[in-house]
Amino acid sequence: MAIRNIVKVGDDILTRKCRPVTDFNDRLFTLLDDMHDTLTDAHGAGLAAPQVGILRRLALVMVEDESFLEIINPEIIAREGEQDGAEGCLSVPGKYGMVKRPMKVTVRYQDRGGEWHERTAEGFTARAFCHEIDHLDGHLYTELVTEYLDPDDFTEDDEGEDQ
Ligand code: NI
Repeated sequence: MAIRNIVKVGDDILTRKCRPVTDFNDRLFTLLDDMHDTLTDAHGAGLAAPQVGILRRLALVMVEDESFLEIINPEIIAREGEQDGAEGCLSVPGKYGMVKRPMKVTVRYQDRGGEWHERTAEGFTARAFCHEIDHLDGHLYTELVTEYLDPDDFTEDDEGEDQ
């Protein structure tokens, strides 16, 4: 277990499309464990593999009970409604902006054992799924921001917005 360096905006790695995970092995487990440590240390709500320099399709997303769900080879298979909300990103420190996302999404993904699951989420969790899966396609939330917010409006309690 170790804390990995978080890649910041401006690094080309954040703009590249990630390849699928094909090997569910010790190397993957170490990466996932390190991402848990890194995300906990950074007080974030989500972290995608390219943010630690790995161009593979996997991410951690904070879910309803505030634990981190590991999603491997995730895909959004259904979207419903619309919501406007604030987002931040651990790769874009100190910035927050308003982004439109679906209110509800269903995601299909594999766990670290390679087993497939489907999960439907609403509100903030739906937003977090969209944000992380965008990272896997080389997209940052900043491409979707309609309005930047004053960082002074955010308190310690809002640190979980960073993903
Ligand atoms: Ni992010």
